Amino acid sequence: MLRVATLCSGIGAPEVAFKDCEFVFAAEIDPFASAVLAHHYPNVPNLGDITKIDGRQWRGKVDLLIGGPPCQAFSMAGERKSLDDERGQLTFEYVRLLDQIQPSVAVYENVKGLLSDKQNAWGKFLALVASGGGELQPPGRRWGNAGLVVGSKRAIAWRVLNAQHFGLAQRRSRVYAVIVDPRNLGRLVARHPDLTIEDWHKSREKLFLSPKSRSGILRRANRRGKKLDPLLEEALKKALNIRLHSPEPSGPE
Ligand SMILES: C[S@@+](CC[C@H](N)C(=O)[O-])C[C@H]1O[C@@H](n2cnc3c(N)ncnc32)[C@H](O)[C@@H]1O
Repeated sequence: MLRVATLCSGIGAPEVAFKDCEFVFAAEIDPFASAVLAHHYPNVPNLGDITKIDGRQWRGKVDLLIGGPPCQAFSMAGERKSLDDERGQLTFEYVRLLDQIQPSVAVYENVKGLLSDKQNAWGKFLALVASGGGELQPPGRRWGNAGLVVGSKRAIAWRVLNAQHFGLAQRRSRVYAVIVDPRNLGRLVARHPDLTIEDWHKSREKLFLSPKSRSGILRRANRRGKKLDPLLEEALKKALNIRLHSPEPSGPE
Protein backbone atom coordinates (compact mmCIF):
# COMPACT_ATOMS: atom_id res chain seq x y z
CA MET A 1 0.00 0.00 0.00
CA LEU A 2 1.24 3.49 -0.84
CA ARG A 3 2.60 5.20 2.28
CA VAL A 4 1.50 8.82 2.44
CA ALA A 5 2.35 11.64 4.86
CA THR A 6 0.96 15.19 4.93
CA LEU A 7 2.47 18.50 6.06
CA CYS A 8 0.32 21.49 7.06
CA SER A 9 -2.43 18.93 6.90
CA GLY A 10 -5.44 21.16 7.64
CA ILE A 11 -8.57 19.06 8.01
CA GLY A 12 -7.10 16.39 5.78
CA ALA A 13 -8.23 16.79 2.16
CA PRO A 14 -5.41 14.49 0.91
CA GLU A 15 -6.42 11.92 3.51
CA VAL A 16 -9.87 11.80 1.89
CA ALA A 17 -8.54 11.83 -1.69
CA PHE A 18 -6.04 9.02 -1.01
CA LYS A 19 -8.34 7.09 1.28
CA ASP A 20 -7.06 3.67 0.23
CA CYS A 21 -3.47 4.48 1.22
CA GLU A 22 -1.60 4.03 4.47
CA PHE A 23 -1.15 7.37 6.26
CA VAL A 24 2.17 7.54 8.07
CA PHE A 25 1.80 10.93 9.76
CA ALA A 26 0.11 14.31 9.57
CA ALA A 27 1.57 17.63 10.78
CA GLU A 28 -0.82 20.38 11.84
CA ILE A 29 -0.76 23.04 14.59
CA ASP A 30 -4.27 24.49 14.46
CA PRO A 31 -6.31 23.05 17.38
CA PHE A 32 -9.57 22.71 15.43
CA ALA A 33 -7.95 21.09 12.37
CA SER A 34 -5.91 18.84 14.68
CA ALA A 35 -9.11 17.74 16.45
CA VAL A 36 -10.72 16.89 13.09
CA LEU A 37 -7.65 14.84 12.11
CA ALA A 38 -7.60 13.08 15.48
CA HIS A 39 -11.30 12.25 15.15
CA HIS A 40 -11.03 10.74 11.65
CA TYR A 41 -7.51 9.30 11.87
CA PRO A 42 -6.94 8.37 15.54
CA ASN A 43 -4.05 6.06 14.63
CA VAL A 44 -2.12 8.55 12.50
CA PRO A 45 0.32 10.61 14.61
CA ASN A 46 0.08 14.41 14.30
CA LEU A 47 3.68 15.66 14.46
CA GLY A 48 2.55 19.29 14.98
CA ASP A 49 4.78 22.20 13.95
CA ILE A 50 6.64 21.34 10.73
CA THR A 51 9.58 23.55 11.73
CA LYS A 52 10.24 21.17 14.65
CA ILE A 53 10.14 17.88 12.72
CA ASP A 54 13.37 15.99 12.17
CA GLY A 55 12.53 14.32 8.86
CA ARG A 56 15.57 12.02 8.92
CA GLN A 57 13.76 9.53 11.14
CA TRP A 58 11.07 9.16 8.45
CA ARG A 59 13.50 8.57 5.59
CA GLY A 60 12.51 5.51 3.55
CA LYS A 61 9.14 5.32 5.31
CA VAL A 62 7.12 7.65 3.07
CA ASP A 63 6.35 7.10 -0.64
CA LEU A 64 4.29 10.24 -1.17
CA LEU A 65 4.64 13.49 0.79
CA ILE A 66 1.85 16.04 0.36
CA GLY A 67 1.97 19.59 1.66
CA GLY A 68 0.08 22.83 1.21
CA PRO A 69 1.88 25.35 3.44
CA PRO A 70 -0.06 28.52 4.40
CA CYS A 71 -0.87 30.75 1.45
CA GLN A 72 -1.38 34.15 3.12
CA ALA A 73 2.16 35.32 2.30
CA PHE A 74 1.51 34.95 -1.45
CA SER A 75 -2.24 35.44 -1.67
CA MET A 76 -3.65 38.28 -3.82
CA ALA A 77 -6.03 38.88 -0.91
CA GLY A 78 -3.18 39.51 1.55
CA GLU A 79 -0.22 41.88 1.91
CA ARG A 80 1.97 39.56 -0.20
CA LYS A 81 5.02 39.89 2.05
CA SER A 82 6.20 36.69 0.45
CA LEU A 83 9.39 35.31 1.96
CA ASP A 84 9.51 38.17 4.51
CA ASP A 85 6.41 36.62 6.07
CA GLU A 86 7.23 33.70 8.34
CA ARG A 87 4.31 31.79 6.81
CA GLY A 88 6.04 32.18 3.42
CA GLN A 89 9.18 30.69 4.92
CA LEU A 90 7.23 27.49 5.69
CA THR A 91 7.56 26.61 2.00
CA PHE A 92 11.29 26.21 2.65
CA GLU A 93 10.54 24.01 5.67
CA TYR A 94 8.60 21.84 3.21
CA VAL A 95 11.75 21.58 1.04
CA ARG A 96 13.92 20.82 4.09
CA LEU A 97 11.60 17.92 4.96
CA LEU A 98 11.56 16.78 1.35
CA ASP A 99 15.36 16.56 1.50
CA GLN A 100 15.34 14.75 4.83
CA ILE A 101 12.47 12.32 4.21
CA GLN A 102 13.27 11.70 0.53
CA PRO A 103 9.87 10.44 -0.63
CA SER A 104 9.67 9.04 -4.17
CA VAL A 105 6.97 11.51 -5.11
CA ALA A 106 5.75 14.71 -3.48
CA VAL A 107 2.89 17.10 -4.08
CA TYR A 108 3.04 20.80 -3.20
CA GLU A 109 0.01 23.08 -3.33
CA ASN A 110 -0.38 26.83 -2.91
CA VAL A 111 -2.22 29.88 -4.23
CA LYS A 112 -1.67 31.04 -7.80
CA GLY A 113 -0.20 34.33 -6.48
CA LEU A 114 2.99 32.42 -5.73
CA LEU A 115 3.73 32.41 -9.48
CA SER A 116 3.74 36.20 -9.76
CA ASP A 117 5.30 37.12 -6.44
CA LYS A 118 7.78 40.04 -6.45
CA GLN A 119 10.56 38.09 -4.71
CA ASN A 120 10.38 35.31 -7.30
CA ALA A 121 9.58 32.79 -4.55
CA TRP A 122 8.50 30.26 -7.19
CA GLY A 123 11.86 30.51 -9.01
CA LYS A 124 13.67 29.96 -5.70
CA PHE A 125 11.43 27.04 -4.77
CA LEU A 126 11.89 25.38 -8.18
CA ALA A 127 15.69 25.73 -8.07
CA LEU A 128 15.90 24.47 -4.51
CA VAL A 129 13.74 21.41 -5.18
CA ALA A 130 15.23 20.57 -8.58
CA SER A 131 18.90 21.27 -7.91
CA GLY A 132 19.38 22.09 -4.23
CA GLY A 133 19.80 25.87 -4.51
CA GLY A 134 19.99 28.99 -6.63
CA GLU A 135 17.10 30.73 -8.35
CA LEU A 136 15.40 30.18 -11.69
CA GLN A 137 13.97 33.08 -13.68
CA PRO A 138 10.63 32.81 -15.50
CA PRO A 139 10.95 32.54 -19.27
CA GLY A 140 8.63 35.57 -19.66
CA ARG A 141 7.42 38.35 -17.35
CA ARG A 142 6.00 35.85 -14.88
CA TRP A 143 5.80 32.12 -14.38
CA GLY A 144 3.22 30.40 -16.58
CA ASN A 145 0.30 28.40 -15.26
CA ALA A 146 1.99 25.15 -16.24
CA GLY A 147 5.60 24.11 -16.56
CA LEU A 148 8.26 21.53 -16.05
CA VAL A 149 11.74 21.81 -14.56
CA VAL A 150 14.19 18.93 -14.50
CA GLY A 151 17.23 19.34 -12.29
CA SER A 152 20.10 17.24 -10.99
CA LYS A 153 18.04 16.17 -7.95
CA ARG A 154 14.41 16.07 -9.00
CA ALA A 155 11.86 16.87 -11.68
CA ILE A 156 8.91 19.17 -10.97
CA ALA A 157 5.83 19.62 -13.10
CA TRP A 158 3.25 22.21 -12.09
CA ARG A 159 -0.11 23.34 -13.23
CA VAL A 160 -2.80 25.75 -12.03
CA LEU A 161 -6.11 23.99 -11.59
CA ASN A 162 -9.43 25.50 -10.61
CA ALA A 163 -11.72 23.56 -8.27
CA GLN A 164 -14.77 24.65 -10.30
CA HIS A 165 -13.62 22.36 -13.12
CA PHE A 166 -13.60 19.35 -10.80
CA GLY A 167 -17.20 19.32 -9.70
CA LEU A 168 -16.95 21.83 -6.83
CA ALA A 169 -19.13 24.92 -6.49
CA GLN A 170 -16.05 27.06 -5.77
CA ARG A 171 -13.77 29.21 -7.90
CA ARG A 172 -10.50 28.18 -6.32
CA SER A 173 -7.37 28.36 -8.44
CA ARG A 174 -4.35 26.68 -6.95
CA VAL A 175 -0.94 25.74 -8.26
CA TYR A 176 -0.19 22.03 -7.84
CA ALA A 177 3.35 20.78 -8.27
CA VAL A 178 4.22 17.10 -8.59
CA ILE A 179 7.82 16.41 -7.64
CA VAL A 180 9.55 13.21 -8.62
CA ASP A 181 12.83 11.97 -7.21
CA PRO A 182 14.19 9.55 -9.85
CA ARG A 183 16.61 8.01 -7.31
CA ASN A 184 13.69 6.80 -5.21
CA LEU A 185 11.18 6.00 -7.92
CA GLY A 186 12.72 2.56 -8.45
CA ARG A 187 12.14 1.85 -4.76
CA LEU A 188 8.47 2.72 -5.15
CA VAL A 189 8.02 0.50 -8.20
CA ALA A 190 9.89 -2.33 -6.42
CA ARG A 191 7.47 -2.10 -3.49
CA HIS A 192 4.49 -2.38 -5.85
CA PRO A 193 5.21 -5.28 -8.22
CA ASP A 194 1.46 -5.87 -8.24
CA LEU A 195 0.78 -2.62 -10.11
CA THR A 196 0.11 -3.30 -13.77
CA ILE A 197 0.36 -0.92 -16.68
CA GLU A 198 -3.47 -0.74 -16.69
CA ASP A 199 -3.34 0.66 -13.14
CA TRP A 200 -1.06 3.47 -14.30
CA HIS A 201 -3.37 4.18 -17.23
CA LYS A 202 -6.35 4.29 -14.88
CA SER A 203 -4.53 6.78 -12.61
CA ARG A 204 -3.60 8.82 -15.66
CA GLU A 205 -7.24 9.04 -16.70
CA LYS A 206 -8.09 10.31 -13.24
CA LEU A 207 -5.32 12.91 -13.35
CA PHE A 208 -6.10 14.39 -16.75
CA LEU A 209 -9.17 16.33 -17.77
CA SER A 210 -11.87 14.66 -19.83
CA PRO A 211 -12.54 15.98 -23.38
CA LYS A 212 -15.79 17.44 -22.02
CA SER A 213 -13.91 19.45 -19.36
CA ARG A 214 -11.27 20.58 -21.85
CA SER A 215 -13.77 21.93 -24.35
CA GLY A 216 -15.70 23.52 -21.44
CA ILE A 217 -12.63 25.48 -20.31
CA LEU A 218 -11.95 26.71 -23.85
CA ARG A 219 -15.58 27.65 -24.49
CA ARG A 220 -16.00 29.51 -21.19
CA ALA A 221 -12.76 31.48 -21.74
CA ASN A 222 -13.92 32.36 -25.26
CA ARG A 223 -17.37 33.42 -24.07
CA ARG A 224 -15.89 35.68 -21.39
CA GLY A 225 -13.18 37.08 -23.66
CA LYS A 226 -10.64 35.73 -21.20
CA LYS A 227 -7.08 35.04 -22.38
CA LEU A 228 -5.92 31.64 -21.24
CA ASP A 229 -2.29 30.92 -20.51
CA PRO A 230 -0.87 30.15 -24.01
CA LEU A 231 0.70 26.89 -22.81
CA LEU A 232 -2.58 25.71 -21.28
CA GLU A 233 -4.56 26.76 -24.36
CA GLU A 234 -2.18 24.93 -26.66
CA ALA A 235 -2.30 21.79 -24.52
CA LEU A 236 -6.11 21.84 -24.32
CA LYS A 237 -6.47 22.32 -28.06
CA LYS A 238 -3.90 19.69 -28.89
CA ALA A 239 -5.68 17.21 -26.65
CA LEU A 240 -8.91 17.97 -28.47
CA ASN A 241 -7.19 17.76 -31.88
CA ILE A 242 -8.18 21.31 -32.71
CA ARG A 243 -5.85 23.28 -34.92
CA LEU A 244 -4.42 26.28 -33.08
CA HIS A 245 -6.21 29.57 -33.84
CA SER A 246 -9.19 27.71 -35.32
CA PRO A 247 -12.74 28.65 -34.18
CA GLU A 248 -13.67 27.54 -30.68
CA PRO A 249 -15.24 24.09 -30.29
CA SER A 250 -18.96 23.87 -29.78
CA GLY A 251 -19.33 20.42 -28.23
CA PRO A 252 -21.32 19.58 -25.12
CA GLU A 253 -19.79 20.83 -21.87
C1 LIG B 1 -3.58 26.01 3.32
S1 LIG B 1 -3.92 25.13 4.79
C2 LIG B 1 -3.81 23.45 4.27
C3 LIG B 1 -5.12 22.85 3.98
C4 LIG B 1 -5.06 21.35 3.83
N1 LIG B 1 -4.45 20.99 2.56
C5 LIG B 1 -6.43 20.68 3.98
O1 LIG B 1 -6.68 19.71 3.32
O2 LIG B 1 -7.25 21.11 4.81
C6 LIG B 1 -2.43 25.36 5.68
C7 LIG B 1 -2.43 24.69 7.04
O3 LIG B 1 -1.11 24.81 7.59
C8 LIG B 1 -1.24 24.87 9.00
N2 LIG B 1 0.03 25.37 9.55
C9 LIG B 1 0.46 26.64 9.64
N3 LIG B 1 1.69 26.69 10.19
C10 LIG B 1 2.06 25.39 10.45
C11 LIG B 1 3.22 24.79 11.01
N4 LIG B 1 4.25 25.53 11.41
N5 LIG B 1 3.24 23.44 11.13
C12 LIG B 1 2.18 22.68 10.73
N6 LIG B 1 1.05 23.21 10.18
C13 LIG B 1 1.00 24.55 10.04
C14 LIG B 1 -2.43 25.78 9.19
O4 LIG B 1 -2.99 25.62 10.48
C15 LIG B 1 -3.35 25.33 8.07
O5 LIG B 1 -4.27 24.35 8.52
